[in-house]
Amino acid sequence: MILLQAYFLVLDDIMDNSQTRRGKPCWFRLPKVGLIAINDGLVLRSQISRIFRRYFRGKSYYVDLLDLFNEVEIQTTSGQLLDQITTNEGRKDLNKYNVHVYRRIVEYKTAYYSFYLPVACALLLFDESLDNYAQVKHILVEMGVYFQSQDDYLDCFGEPEIIGKIGSDIEDFKCSWLFVQALERADEKQKGVLFENYGKSDPACVAKVKDLYNELHLQRVFSEYERESYEKLISAIEAQPNEAVRAVLKSFLHKIYKRSK
Ligand code: IPE
Ligand code: MN
Ligand code: MN
Repeated sequence: MILLQAYFLVLDDIMDNSQTRRGKPCWFRLPKVGLIAINDGLVLRSQISRIFRRYFRGKSYYVDLLDLFNEVEIQTTSGQLLDQITTNEGRKDLNKYNVHVYRRIVEYKTAYYSFYLPVACALLLFDESLDNYAQVKHILVEMGVYFQSQDDYLDCFGEPEIIGKIGSDIEDFKCSWLFVQALERADEKQKGVLFENYGKSDPACVAKVKDLYNELHLQRVFSEYERESYEKLISAIEAQPNEAVRAVLKSFLHKIYKRSK
């Protein structure tokens, strides 16, 4: 899981042209590394199959585990592709960004690998059939969508020292949660400001976008969204019949809902 995450992030930082990760320069930013980081990402990836072979070969769930990882990898890379394609479309016409487009990107690029995958792995290790856990999957995907919305929120409003990375969604033209919310609430004049300044690396333009986010009270909008999604998730979790499953889902939930406070 850690290797999968590391591999995705090493490559994601190249694609997003990011500066820092976990409080240090992104791997590809090191002078000796550069684009060799692409191969390093693949090296990390290739170790996953080896670890699986070493520890799980011969176990009843071996094939299902490999299948799960493959499927989730397809979902995540498709999500990243969707993110990149959407960003290119957005460069031409920002009106293409909306909540539906947003939801599809983040479900695929984040939710499956960060939330569904670890729980699904644990279930397989207990010889459970994933077909019996459709509702658990649904809850985890919703949690993942919330988590990425929070990541987008923190990209702009989080402290770099705390989140360990410098936000770049505005500069990168990203179809981010904040931008989509701003577009829904902006009048024609505000839309003009947004369209003129989004996607530019000039700090003055970035500041104008942030000012507009504040003018539209997006911090408050996010707190409301956070509370609503928490309440929906907790009641879905409480409805789960299995106590161990409830405990795992709750601990995930409480971990992520502490982050933006
Ligand atoms: C990345 O999403 C998701 C994956 C790595 C698959 P982001 O691009 O928003 O992640 P950060 O903000 O760079 O961490
Ligand atoms: Mn990124
Ligand atoms: Mn991000």
